[in-house]
Amino acid sequence: MGSAKRNKNVSGSSVSRQLRRKGSSRIPSRPFVVATFAMTVDGKTTTRNFTPVDFTSREDKLHLFRQRALADAVLIGHTSLKRDNVRLGIPSELQKARRKHRQTPAPIRVVVSDKGRIDNRLNIFQSDISPIIIFSTRRMPRKYRQALREKATIHLTRAQHVNLAAMLGTLRGKYKVRTVACEGGPTLFRALLERGLVDQLNLTIAPHMFGGANAPTLTGLSKEFLPDSVHCSLIDMRVVGEECFLTYRIKHARRRSK
Ligand SMILES: NC(=O)c1ccc[n+]([C@@H]2O[C@H](COP(=O)([O-])OP(=O)(O)OC[C@H]3O[C@@H](n4cnc5c(N)ncnc54)[C@H](OP(=O)(O)O)[C@@H]3O)[C@@H](O)[C@H]2O)c1
Repeated sequence: MGSAKRNKNVSGSSVSRQLRRKGSSRIPSRPFVVATFAMTVDGKTTTRNFTPVDFTSREDKLHLFRQRALADAVLIGHTSLKRDNVRLGIPSELQKARRKHRQTPAPIRVVVSDKGRIDNRLNIFQSDISPIIIFSTRRMPRKYRQALREKATIHLTRAQHVNLAAMLGTLRGKYKVRTVACEGGPTLFRALLERGLVDQLNLTIAPHMFGGANAPTLTGLSKEFLPDSVHCSLIDMRVVGEECFLTYRIKHARRRSK
């Protein structure tokens, strides 16, 4: 799919249309959430050791950057942040393109962690390309709070777990985020999916097989079925070299309790 078309998929106006009730001009209560993943032919997203694996092409890496650049915020789970030690920035040409559209150079970076033991020496905190927001709980130890406050804005809930719907609500209401690029990992993706909080999935199928029951799939390692099967509608498919780039719209079940 060309980038213009991808732009159309998640552009502000189409997002608003998606989330707005028919005939209503109400501001959507949460951003449009686009998840981007790569998996092997046998559905694995990483190895059993959760090591950062490089099983996709340069084109896939560019694809990930482009998807990130389309969003107002990029969201990541603590384990992926820790394991992959990513900065979550974007290359300079994509920063330039955003500036042309009167956007900030890069999307806000959002980290979610229940326990809050996030190391402030991680690469993300060494880059000031965009603000960092951490959603965590009061379980975050005091010394981590103090160290992280110098680098990020921290939202802590009294509950044991971060409420993902409330987090997205805060991103929409307080930070004016209309589109979120979720970059995993599988645990966070599954949690969002279970709550009906994913709108689009960009999935790259890479020409490898890992096997192994202990290597996570797209929805992690849980042996449980999802509460309801999730229906996806294929809206685009592109083959580059030996990789297949799929775009799915997630069909939302009629309101279920969250
Ligand atoms: N192939 C791909 O496209 C792709 C994409 C992304 C990641 N990965 C791989 O996936 C692996 C990591 O994935 P993962 O599933 O283990 O971890 P993950 O989803 O990245 O992060 C899980 C952690 O995030 C926090 N978290 C997740 N859901 C939460 C929720 N509902 N509320 C609050 N906090 C939540 C918790 O952090 P705390 O433990 O701090 O509470 C949890 O332990 C890495 O090996 C990475 O390389 C692959």
